[in-house]
Amino acid sequence: MDITDEKGKVKTKKWMPKAGILGGGQLGRMLLQQAINYPVNTYVMENDVQCPSAHLCHHFTKGDIQNFDDVYNFGKDLDLLTIEIESVNVEALEQLEKEGVKVFPAAAAIKTIKNKILQKQFYKERGIPTSDFVVTENRQDLERHLAFLPAVHKLATGGYDGRGVQIIKTTSELPLGFDAPSVLEKMVHIKKEIAVMVAMNDKGETAIYPPAEMIFDQSLNLLDYQLCPANIEQDVLWKCEAIALKVVRDLQSPGIFAVELFVDYSNEVFVNETAPRVHNSGHHTIEANYSSQFDMLWRVMLGYPLGNTESVMPSAIINIVGAANHTGNAVYEGLEEILKLDNVYVHLYGKALTKPGRKMGHVTIVSNERQELIHQANRIKNTLKVVSSEE
Ligand SMILES: Nc1ncnc2c1ncn2[C@@H]1O[C@H](COP(=O)(O)OP(=O)(O)OP(=O)(O)O)[C@@H](O)[C@H]1O
Ligand SMILES: [Mg+2]
Repeated sequence: MDITDEKGKVKTKKWMPKAGILGGGQLGRMLLQQAINYPVNTYVMENDVQCPSAHLCHHFTKGDIQNFDDVYNFGKDLDLLTIEIESVNVEALEQLEKEGVKVFPAAAAIKTIKNKILQKQFYKERGIPTSDFVVTENRQDLERHLAFLPAVHKLATGGYDGRGVQIIKTTSELPLGFDAPSVLEKMVHIKKEIAVMVAMNDKGETAIYPPAEMIFDQSLNLLDYQLCPANIEQDVLWKCEAIALKVVRDLQSPGIFAVELFVDYSNEVFVNETAPRVHNSGHHTIEANYSSQFDMLWRVMLGYPLGNTESVMPSAIINIVGAANHTGNAVYEGLEEILKLDNVYVHLYGKALTKPGRKMGHVTIVSNERQELIHQANRIKNTLKVVSSEE
């Protein structure tokens, strides 16, 4: 806050902006790790007082990010706000924007993206390539679109990390569909999944990171590992970059965005979805690029020049997820062996409890050799396990 004299005249300018983060998971945690290099006071709101960010911010507030009053009261005395998850109370953010709080990304962009129906309609209206889709209100409605199969059914709201996404290949799989508002989209024959991080500042200047290639575990529908730069024809990469830039420009919001794209076997590019925030697909930028996604977002929010997105070294990311059949206090098996490797960086998210599939950390590998990246990614996957102490 500014300091004023008895007539209300500003005596000293505020010296440190107050920045709030809605959500206190690993994304908030890594954002806070970078915040310590900037003149900024950090505030986090989250319901779980033991979340990964709680003890790393200057001020922690226990509250529900989906509740209007909680978000409004948390944000009203702040200079700027950002999110680490889309499922926040957008109405409160709209009100805060009206009152002069800067929100990154803009509330309108979150509104469009957090509902998959609105998000797909946005791409369609803007002429941004995305797979064909229909909106379904319930399971009965779904059964009217048999001609659309094979398709992918996605819950409009509330899905994350592959939950809320159901592949429906044949009519016999229709009962697996969601009985709530969803999109049913045509199945793309995916050759590559690409993620492009793009930042945009208040002036509309953009910075784009080299595209990364995501490799998925089909059974879990969860990212297995990721390589950057993506190994794909240069003209296809340019197409991916151009489309990602258009998505962000059309959203007309400052912030950082991860645009997930599919490339099919005819090298056609489709937008899958966009995250209006720092994202798992950008974690390698901490070590492998001059300015990381977290650094970039602070630059955008604090009004500094955009950072250099160039990569210093090719990299891979491997997610460390909770092992199957283990629920309880987290224990990291194989950690010592991984820490002996000289081209890997271990990030553990500080979550006390593990459960099957829960994101517990990630490891970044850097090397000029693609084969070495893949080799180490597999080695780490087979060595580092998050189990529970009770079992
Ligand atoms: N239209 C499609 N055609 C083929 N595969 C698809 C399609 N849509 C989604 N998938 C597959 O399902 C995965 C998850 O889909 P999506 O990214 O929409 O879900 P999500 O729950 O938001 O996941 P995450 O949070 O992990 O990004 C995709 O990465 C892709 O592998
Ligand atoms: Mg996705």
